[in-house]
Amino acid sequence: VPDTVWTIVVAAGSGQRFGMPKQYEELGGRRLLDWALEAAKAAGDGVVLVLPAADVPAGDPSTVAGGASRSESVRHGLAAVPGDADIVCVHDAARPFASAALFEAVVDAVRAGADGAVPGVAVTDTVKVVDGTGAVVSTPERSTLRAVQTPQAFRADVLRRAHESGREGTDDAALVEAIGGRVVVVPGDPLNRKITHPDDLAWARAQIASSR
Ligand code: C5P
Repeated sequence: VPDTVWTIVVAAGSGQRFGMPKQYEELGGRRLLDWALEAAKAAGDGVVLVLPAADVPAGDPSTVAGGASRSESVRHGLAAVPGDADIVCVHDAARPFASAALFEAVVDAVRAGADGAVPGVAVTDTVKVVDGTGAVVSTPERSTLRAVQTPQAFRADVLRRAHESGREGTDDAALVEAIGGRVVVVPGDPLNRKITHPDDLAWARAQIASSR
C-alpha cells in the first residue's frame, strides 16, 4: 500500500518584517500563497491551509486558523490532518518556487527510513554565533552548515509527537531533532527562496518576468 501524504501550508504570519501580510501579495497574476498551495496539492493526497483567524472561511475543514507562532500554526494544521496520513509535509506559503521534484525528494527520503527530511543548501557567508550584546561566541565551521528550506517531510507519528511537547522552533525539523528523531538533509534549491522582505518579492517578480 502506498503511503498517504498530506501537506500543511502555513500562511498565518503577520508579515512583520515585510511590513504587511505578504501571503496575499500579487505574484505572476495570483496571490503569493497560491503558488505554494498548487505545489502542495500536486505533491500528495491532501492539503491543510493555515490562515490568519480573521481570513478563515466558514465551512471549509481544510482551512484552519493559525496561532501566535509558526510552531503553533503548524500544530493547528496538524490537528486537521486525517489520522491515516503516513507522511506529513510542512511548507511555508512564503516559498512560491518549491518544485514538484523537491517535494518528491523529501518524501522519498522519509519513505527510505528517515523520521524527517529537509532541503538544504550550502551557506556562502561565514556564520557567527553571538550573545545578546553582539559579542561573538563562536564561528561554526562553514562546510558543516546548511541553510534549510521547506517543504520538510516527516513520519506523521513522529511529527505529532514532536509537536505534543508544545516546543517552539523556527522549523519543524528542530522539534523532531529535539525528541531524538533522525532528520536528513537533501539537496535544496537556491531558487526556492523565502519571501521575507519586499526585495524578495521584487526578485520573485523578476524571476517570473525573465522566464516568460
Ligand atoms: O516567520 P517565518 O518567515 O519563519 O514564517 C514562515 C512561514 O510561517 C510563513 O509562510 C508564515 O506565514 C508562517 N507563519 C504562520 N504563523 C505564524 C508565523 C508564521 O503560519 N504565527
